[in-house]
Amino acid sequence: MTSTSDTTILIFGASGDLTSRKLIPALFRLSQQQYLSPRCPVVGVARRPKSHDEFRTEMRDKVKARLGNDQFDAAAWDIFAKQLFYQQLDITNAEEYATLKESVQTLETQVGAGSDSARIVYLATTPDLIASAVEGLHASQMIPPRELESQLRVVVEKPFGRDLKSAQELTVVLSRHLQESQIYRIDHYLGKETVQNILLFRFGNAIFEPLLNRNHIDHIQITVAEALGMEGSRGGYYDTSGAMRDVLQNHVLQLLCLIAMDPPSLFQAREIRDEKMKVLQALRPGVSGPVGNWAIRGQYTAGLVDRQPALAYREEDRVNPNSNRETFVAMRVALDNWRWAGVPFFLRTGKRLPKQMTEIAIQFKNPPLNLFSTVECDGDLCDLVETRPNQLILRIQPQEAISLRFSTKRPGMNYQVQPVSMDFEYGDHFTTQLPEAYERLLLDVMRGDSTLFTRSDELEAAWRFVTPVLDAWESSSSSPDLYPAGTWGPSSADRLISETKAIWRAPR
Ligand code: BG6
Repeated sequence: MTSTSDTTILIFGASGDLTSRKLIPALFRLSQQQYLSPRCPVVGVARRPKSHDEFRTEMRDKVKARLGNDQFDAAAWDIFAKQLFYQQLDITNAEEYATLKESVQTLETQVGAGSDSARIVYLATTPDLIASAVEGLHASQMIPPRELESQLRVVVEKPFGRDLKSAQELTVVLSRHLQESQIYRIDHYLGKETVQNILLFRFGNAIFEPLLNRNHIDHIQITVAEALGMEGSRGGYYDTSGAMRDVLQNHVLQLLCLIAMDPPSLFQAREIRDEKMKVLQALRPGVSGPVGNWAIRGQYTAGLVDRQPALAYREEDRVNPNSNRETFVAMRVALDNWRWAGVPFFLRTGKRLPKQMTEIAIQFKNPPLNLFSTVECDGDLCDLVETRPNQLILRIQPQEAISLRFSTKRPGMNYQVQPVSMDFEYGDHFTTQLPEAYERLLLDVMRGDSTLFTRSDELEAAWRFVTPVLDAWESSSSSPDLYPAGTWGPSSADRLISETKAIWRAPR
């Protein structure tokens, strides 16, 4: 990573959880690694009055609590704290933006930022404040004229709407005063090291890519599993959102794009996003008929996760006790294009599954002839042992890895099949800690590189696909299928995949 030129970072929503949990720790690490110049002021902006020092102390305590005493470098924090400031602002009051502008200019002079330094406004706020923020920036002339547009970049956090219509409305609000090139919609999955590696693995090696198509692939499974439930006050938000809006519409579909897209002609933002867009345009239900034939929803009941008792979703704090919100989604989808026609893609995500695990599992077709089946007996128990289909597994997190499963001959006098795997584990090969997604993404915004951010047309295409499913669920009189916390989702998800004779991977 290279360092950046002078940039001022304004975080709207500085008293929120995201600021102390992700943004300030990421900026602190960038400063420690000298990617963030001391000439870049970082200004927390929120409604409550607070001094710079109060804000610094608050952030220091939270970052320290997260990192633990032994990992927290107090000397490095003291250096970073010099560029950390606070500004009070009522986002909905356009008149206060003139004061904000003045204060920012003063701080920029104080840290010695160049006169042409760019500004980033990070909207870590609730979506209902986005329109006011954009209007306020416009009214105070903080949005530069068109020819200088790269001097202001606005970062927007999810949720980007709750369906196609509201996402389109949000795009209208943002584009009223901003150019598309100034808008950075964050999907933090794209900042993960292993997610970025999908494209390098596919297009930087010659051996796998020729096989990734309908001639060789039986099906692909994408899983984003979480053991967590509704931590803290999360239930309030989640009960208005659910697994489809929270994870499938964004993180899972982005993984699908990356594993299924064609190679871009250049490794640049426009070319990559154009190819991802083509995948979303080709996305179809995996089978015809009603939504229930290819998309199922589940909700967890009480159970055991990691041997600890877990509440039912409806008993969680701030969740409606009669809620029909889905905490699990599984889908069978297809891509109507030359490369993937006829190959099922199975997508699933859920809360309170047995473990945290994100992976893409690519299953190859069986060899044309089954030459190596043997009967093996252990006492009275006999089994037919055959070669199993090859699998290529991209483990996104945790225990980041890539594995290739294949059959081999078990040493001995007979032809007996033994499944084995070749594993590449990040931890064995790289001693450097993998950068946090937010570190990478913040640095990219500072550099003006939008490759890892979602464009408005991608966003709309994703919503266009999932909105009919959400509508069908909302108008249906049935409830989500139940699954006990600590299991891999409802049995209907197993039926969905077993129609193709495949099974979900359930790694230990
Ligand atoms: C967020 C969702 O976008 O992604 C959370 O809102 C989810 O509900 C999180 O837990 C998962 O991210 P990660 O990086 O922990 O896999």
